[in-house]
Amino acid sequence: MKANIAVIKGDGIGPEIVDEAMKVLRAIEKKYNHQFDFTQILMGGASIDACGVPLSDEALAIAKKSDAVLLGSIGGDTNTSPWYQLPPELRPEAGLLKIRKELGLFANLRPAYLYEQLADACPIKPELIKGGFDMMIMRELTGGLYFGQRSTEMEDGQLVARDAMSYSESEIRRIAYRAFDIARLRRNKVTSVDKANVLDTSRLWRKVVNEVAVEYPDVSLEHMLVDNCAMQLVKNPQQFDVILTENMFGDILSDEASMITGSIGMLSSASLREDKFGMYEPSHGSAPDIASMDKANPIATILSAAMMLRYTFNLVDEAAAIEKAIYDVLEQGYRTVDIFAPGCQQVGCRQMGDLIVENLGD
Ligand code: IPM
Ligand code: MG
Repeated sequence: MKANIAVIKGDGIGPEIVDEAMKVLRAIEKKYNHQFDFTQILMGGASIDACGVPLSDEALAIAKKSDAVLLGSIGGDTNTSPWYQLPPELRPEAGLLKIRKELGLFANLRPAYLYEQLADACPIKPELIKGGFDMMIMRELTGGLYFGQRSTEMEDGQLVARDAMSYSESEIRRIAYRAFDIARLRRNKVTSVDKANVLDTSRLWRKVVNEVAVEYPDVSLEHMLVDNCAMQLVKNPQQFDVILTENMFGDILSDEASMITGSIGMLSSASLREDKFGMYEPSHGSAPDIASMDKANPIATILSAAMMLRYTFNLVDEAAAIEKAIYDVLEQGYRTVDIFAPGCQQVGCRQMGDLIVENLGD
């Protein structure tokens, strides 16, 4: 098949991890006779430096015209980078939020599972995770606190800041359907996470999710408060199949879930809308402290490229081949520094990419 892929390398470790994902996609192209046309666009800090805005209209137009977007990571050190002296709407993250909203990517899938080879890197006691765990976090991505009205104003001699959180029934319903559909392809369980003991948005969330659940009698639904969920993730991660939650809770819980897989460098993500289009990116950030040192773990980005093949292009065998190659490389004992364990062979970002390509075969 022929596909147009917009590529955003981004900031920090973004360029190096995306290079490895492109290397793997090139190998897939050759092995399975596809044609992937990559068009690079700028976003985040790199775009601020080149054109003064974190996402230009031209870059957005190219992304909109493509079949899928592959993204590395954006942003810099919030304490030291000059990007964070700019007004909030001109900072790197504003580009990311804009592209998510403009492309309508409301459903963010973040799979977290434990590779048996990385069990030692998991900070949870072995007896609690025997047999591993395998969950899919379904995070709402274009609503809630991230997109509500914000203000910082002087009131009675002091600054007062406000961030508004809102969810409509339709915003909740469409993501709930996605969660139940995915659960049907997995282990038929949805855990909907909210803060219904405090927030109105959560009470509406619960009501709408209950309504959708009626159409899925074969899928079991439980509701869990977000603070309890944070605790359950480190106490008994095996109980989870699909976690359905709003934007901010999903941001926080997915970092926690990634850490129990051994490293945040292993967690991929897909951001989808109603049709096949999607943006694929690792769940981790730009790690400016290790940028350009060939130390980054490219696996989350390579797994995101595999998700792109599966969800946007229906290339199920190709996606499975990438996932198997990663499994094999880990089995052979190769590790980037973030997942290193004694007795393993430490490799850099580039070599990890090369090894995955080698294991794909010709
Ligand atoms: C993520 C990131 C972003 C988010 C940041 C960079 C704005 O943390 O994708 O999880 O909060 O959504
Ligand atoms: Mg995050």
